[in-house]
Amino acid sequence: MPGLRVAVLASGDGTNLQSLLDAARDPKAGFTVSLVISNRITAGALERAARAGVRTATVAQDGDDAARLLALLQECGAELVVLAGYLKLVPSAVVSAYAGRILNIHPALLPAFGGAGMFGRRVHEAVLASGARVSGPTVHQVDERFDQGTIVAQWPVPVKAGDTPETLAARVLEAEHHLLPAVVRAWAKGGAASLSLAAPAFGPASALPALSDALAP
Ligand code: GRF
Repeated sequence: MPGLRVAVLASGDGTNLQSLLDAARDPKAGFTVSLVISNRITAGALERAARAGVRTATVAQDGDDAARLLALLQECGAELVVLAGYLKLVPSAVVSAYAGRILNIHPALLPAFGGAGMFGRRVHEAVLASGARVSGPTVHQVDERFDQGTIVAQWPVPVKAGDTPETLAARVLEAEHHLLPAVVRAWAKGGAASLSLAAPAFGPASALPALSDALAP
């Protein structure tokens, strides 16, 4: 089931990639993960891709080889590029070539708690330090800056009393695994236009702890 050809860039364990690989197995998903690229040769994401029979490739560790990255994406016919735990900036030549067609998932509700250096545990530490009662993943379009492109979708997740960065990260990650495939499925069905960029989509609260829980004492 070919459908929309998606290339995924990932630097880490690749659980978000896995959520896309799993979702793509449904013939109704309308998309295929055609290529997985990493800047880290030891990334778990590369193993997950190989296990699923998806082609893999690596780029320079600093991610700064625009020509190679562009050639890889074009060779596999990528129509959408998804950053799933990719820790490097995408070179501007690639951002221009795929303008509006690169998405990133971030583990907090942007525009708060984003930007250079805000990744992994640090994001959740900052959320907890702020006293915010709600967190959750954001999917946004990628430009040349960290975490600043137009927001496409968010999924609110409660911050609970006694949360540690690890417990909060786990709750947000569970939501990421719902949100990312949902966004890619929607894109595959209706293109970028199906995602209302003026009014970001919010995940159905029924499938995960409801927003009202987040606001309860
Ligand atoms: C996720 O929390 C994602 O939001 C962030 O990096 C993490 C990647 O996790 N950008 P994984 O490699 O997909 O498990």
